[in-house]
Amino acid sequence: MILSEQVGLITGGASGIGKHLVESLSGSLRALHVIDKNVGALDEIATANPALHTHTCDLTDFEAVQNTVRAAFESDAPPTVLINNAGMIHSEPLINLMSPDDRKHSLDNWHRTIDVNLNTVFYMTLCFADAMLQRRLKGVVISISSITACGNAGQSAYAAAKAGVNAMTVTWAKELGVMGIRAAAIAPGFMNTPSTNSALSEGHIKHIKKNTPLNRLGDVEDVAGAVRFIIENDFFNGRVIEIDGGIRI
Ligand SMILES: NC(=O)c1ccc[n+]([C@@H]2O[C@H](COP(=O)([O-])OP(=O)(O)OC[C@H]3O[C@@H](n4cnc5c(N)ncnc54)[C@H](O)[C@@H]3O)[C@@H](O)[C@H]2O)c1
Repeated sequence: MILSEQVGLITGGASGIGKHLVESLSGSLRALHVIDKNVGALDEIATANPALHTHTCDLTDFEAVQNTVRAAFESDAPPTVLINNAGMIHSEPLINLMSPDDRKHSLDNWHRTIDVNLNTVFYMTLCFADAMLQRRLKGVVISISSITACGNAGQSAYAAAKAGVNAMTVTWAKELGVMGIRAAAIAPGFMNTPSTNSALSEGHIKHIKKNTPLNRLGDVEDVAGAVRFIIENDFFNGRVIEIDGGIRI
């Protein structure tokens, strides 16, 4: 696909990796729709770049997702590239041996983490694929997963959600490929983002760098490069690109 002819639709574009993707890709795409639930942060990026189509939406609300995707497709720039980026990191052990009270993983936290990281990707892709097929458009669904999908101590819910994203990516590649819609995912390792720096202690980050052959956290532009590659390579389908500095080898 030719980048400059595509219209993007990105979720969680108001901060972190998503915000960088908006800044890095908006100039190369024909147009870009940005969805986020954070009204203030969304307003800021709309002011900085008035050409963007911004939509406020809590993606855990299926009806709101339906309305937002409909608005994007009824605009003068119907999207052809969906980037499922919105998500949240959650870390909690299955059994917290240090807790004097209930030691078991909170069920509320389990449901919330699955809702934000897995259900939102399903809702968005469901509405996007349906609208694409109705209009006979060709395009691609790119989901931002995580290397945690392979299992990570202290992240049952987040790991399960991201493994689900990888599984749906393969499923969609098989179901939708014949209709001209590809599906792929990108699994970053530890990236240098505000969420990483606030979720992890300095000591933990030092430990991660020491165990990464490249000896550093990842740069968000590396994720943007992978997004461009997936859009432009028409034979890339159903695979997850790991961008982790080699921490998993
Ligand atoms: N930062 C990393 O090191 C890292 C590593 C691997 C994977 N990831 C994945 O990359 C993606 C982005 O992570 P980030 O670090 O930039 O996070 P972030 O918290 O900085 O940004 C996430 C954005 O998603 C939005 N969002 C969250 N829930 C939403 C909802 N229900 N509806 C609408 N918007 C919602 C937030 O408002 C925010 O703007 C996530 O899917 C995350 O799991 C991040």
